[in-house]
Amino acid sequence: MIIGRCVGETSLNEVNFISKKMPKVGEYVNLSYDGKNVLGMIDSLVRGNVSLNGEIFNPDTIEMIKSLEGDDYYIKGKIRILGDFDDDLRLPRTPAPPGTPVEIASSKILDSIFKSKNSLKLGNLINQSDIEVNVDINKMVSRHLAILAMTGAGKSNTVSVLIDGLLEKNGAIFIFDMHSEYSNSDFKNGEINKIKPVINPIYMSFDEIKGLANIKGSAHIQERYFRNAFKKARKIVENGEATTTDFLQIIYDVLYKRFNDDETSSSDKNKIMDVINKIEDLQDKYGKLFNTNIGNILSKIELGKVNVLDLGQSDEFAAEVLVSHILRNALKSRKANVHSDENNGLEFPVFFILEEAHILAPQSRNPSSKFWISRIAREGRKFGLGLCLVSQSPKSIDQDALSQVNNMIILRLVEPQDQRHVQSASENLSEDLVKQLPSLNIGEAMVLGLMTKIPTLVKIDEFKGRSHGGDIDITSLWVSSKKEKEENLKQEEEDFLNLGGDY
Ligand SMILES: Nc1ncnc2c1ncn2[C@@H]1O[C@H](COP(=O)(O)OP(=O)(O)O)[C@@H](O)[C@H]1O
Ligand SMILES: [Mg+2]
Repeated sequence: MIIGRCVGETSLNEVNFISKKMPKVGEYVNLSYDGKNVLGMIDSLVRGNVSLNGEIFNPDTIEMIKSLEGDDYYIKGKIRILGDFDDDLRLPRTPAPPGTPVEIASSKILDSIFKSKNSLKLGNLINQSDIEVNVDINKMVSRHLAILAMTGAGKSNTVSVLIDGLLEKNGAIFIFDMHSEYSNSDFKNGEINKIKPVINPIYMSFDEIKGLANIKGSAHIQERYFRNAFKKARKIVENGEATTTDFLQIIYDVLYKRFNDDETSSSDKNKIMDVINKIEDLQDKYGKLFNTNIGNILSKIELGKVNVLDLGQSDEFAAEVLVSHILRNALKSRKANVHSDENNGLEFPVFFILEEAHILAPQSRNPSSKFWISRIAREGRKFGLGLCLVSQSPKSIDQDALSQVNNMIILRLVEPQDQRHVQSASENLSEDLVKQLPSLNIGEAMVLGLMTKIPTLVKIDEFKGRSHGGDIDITSLWVSSKKEKEENLKQEEEDFLNLGGDY
């Protein structure tokens, strides 16, 4: 169906058009010229009236013109050229001549674009709801993904839809579940494998444990004592000489022995006591995080399942250490696996999902988790490690990490600072697309990057197997609390009366 024609000067990636009919922003159109079939997307639209221009300052005059002319207006719009349909969606080398008819793209063309072999279904086109949108799994995992939107816009729902789609292909998914949202979900295509947030310290680096012990960068002597004690304790465990599985106790014993050594000077004793105090604090706060009795946490990851590390009870620092620990070991293990026949740890590619990515890879601080997120963002592709960064505060995510992420699913995003930050990290997000972000409804998303052949506005499927995580119903909780209290009171009264009846 022809809706309008190109006007004015056209270029290779953009044309203006005048339309008889109101199309929708985000709708796909087809331009046929010079024997080519070129696909475009409507980027922006305006409506105007030649007689009612912005130079009239009297409302009565406007009314008069309107009564004479009726609702006579024009529709003007901009089309972003996406590529030549017959040439693998490469940009055409000649611009469309003015006057070229603009047609709404046919379902047949769109269907063929959004179907591919190794793909998963995200949802349907917002504007043409009969068209399913599938994304390329290999490109999604190997080139990483960011899911960005304000709270309540549908990020976790999107994550769940992705997980189910990956499970259908027997994928290995690992989710750092910051709010205990996923461990009780019900996925259609695979089971949940719950992994406890416990690390065997012999697989830890000193930096990881130091991050938790709150030893300041300037306290060099403290750090040296701690480092030596950490290494000794690790040796003791590795040599099977430990009498306890409590790693911090072993470190403590090593330090205490040194403290009691006659050769230790009194000023050093003070420093050692400082470290011992830190270890005691560490024991109080994070004692449960360590256990020398368990295997490498990586060996617990199972193929064809969604592996959930429940971090709902852990604080930010413990979460950072776990993320850093797991990503560092995953990279090490996959490298060894790719470069040799050794079977150590991860024998298959894994897609790591990180909620609250702005806390784990923040722009303003340098936790060890950020370092390893950036490393995997840069190198993961070669070793089959994919990242999915999920965040409600895109502006606080490290720009470097975000710019390594090729694919984006952006749902409703209102704050201009967030929009700018995302735009500067993604070459695919044009100014006109950014303007669409505040007007998206819940569950509606812009999908960009290599995993989709063309930028797309999608209504994401609703995931049905969610146990909780949505908004809690506050008023009904208040009402039920009130009822409960009243019932208790009534019961007490009755009990009292019954008691009185005995006399
Ligand atoms: N694609 C969707 N289709 C229908 N409802 C949705 C969709 N996405 C989200 N919702 C609704 O919005 C609520 C919030 O979504 P959620 O994914 O938890 O948002 P976020 O993780 O961004 O805070 C969900 O409980 C669900 O009811
Ligand atoms: Mg969420």
